[in-house]
Amino acid sequence: MELLHSGKVRDVYADGDDLILVASDRVSVYDVVLPTMVPDKGKILTQLSLWWFEQLADVTPNHVISGTDVPAEWEGRAVRCKRLTMLPVEWIARGYLAGLGLKEYEKSGTVSGVALPDGLVEASRLPEPIFTPTTKATEGHDEFITYDDVVDEIGADTAARLKEVTLDVYRRGAELAAERGIIIADTKLEFGRAADGTLVLGDEVLTSDSSRFWPADDWTPGRAQHALDKQFVRDWSSTLDWDRTPPGPEIPPEIVDATRARYVEVYERLTGRRWDA
Ligand SMILES: Nc1ncnc2c1ncn2[C@@H]1O[C@H](COP(=O)(O)OP(=O)(O)OP(=O)(O)O)[C@@H](O)[C@H]1O
Ligand SMILES: [Mg+2]
Repeated sequence: MELLHSGKVRDVYADGDDLILVASDRVSVYDVVLPTMVPDKGKILTQLSLWWFEQLADVTPNHVISGTDVPAEWEGRAVRCKRLTMLPVEWIARGYLAGLGLKEYEKSGTVSGVALPDGLVEASRLPEPIFTPTTKATEGHDEFITYDDVVDEIGADTAARLKEVTLDVYRRGAELAAERGIIIADTKLEFGRAADGTLVLGDEVLTSDSSRFWPADDWTPGRAQHALDKQFVRDWSSTLDWDRTPPGPEIPPEIVDATRARYVEVYERLTGRRWDA
């Protein structure tokens, strides 16, 4: 198969008209791929995404063709999907204040041009979920853009539709996760256009790489939260004397194990299934 693209975490192959999206065990922090793998990470993310795509099937069409009709050596970590023309936007919904959203709020009281009430702190719950798109930078870091920027980029109709779908996916996901004791603070989606023009949810959905997950019983605004997602690795990396440029640091074994345990925990709590690699 032709390798079309090797991303930070996934490799994309063409198989006729289909794509085969293969999730590796690589970890990227601040857009730098670290030299250490987290065993099973790619499989866990792939299986969690497949589960979510099913849960969300009535909210949005998705790119999945099959989670099993893939080359045997990639079984579990690969998805056969429709080839989409991806839109140049990262569709982000936030229900809580964290990460870059928090930084932006502290500077200007807004996130992606959305004005927020005064007095919010780290991890505050927002009055309602907001849409905070970023660019999908091919080089360098993604940056916040306003809703109007999205309209300029892809047109008013598509922007309005996908903003609503993004918020619907977030709301549905957050509600379901809340029943299982997990807060989804925010999440990033990617949409593309299928050959027939349909707008389709692609990439991965509501995973530990694309979302912030916090245990609900430990949620305390005003401090950093216990991260069940990739933030755990970012937090560890920020204890190091590392300038966030390549090469990234080796992850020590205890941090690898703790990261893997968090990815497994999220998978098991959300899906109600046991992780059995
Ligand atoms: N159905 C699809 N059709 C076409 N491209 C897709 C589809 N689903 C996901 N993609 C793209 O496949 C790539 C997945 O790889 P990965 O997530 O590792 O890349 P990345 O490092 O996040 O981003 P990039 O390398 O593009 O900057 C992304 O570029 C994503 O936009
Ligand atoms: Mg990606």
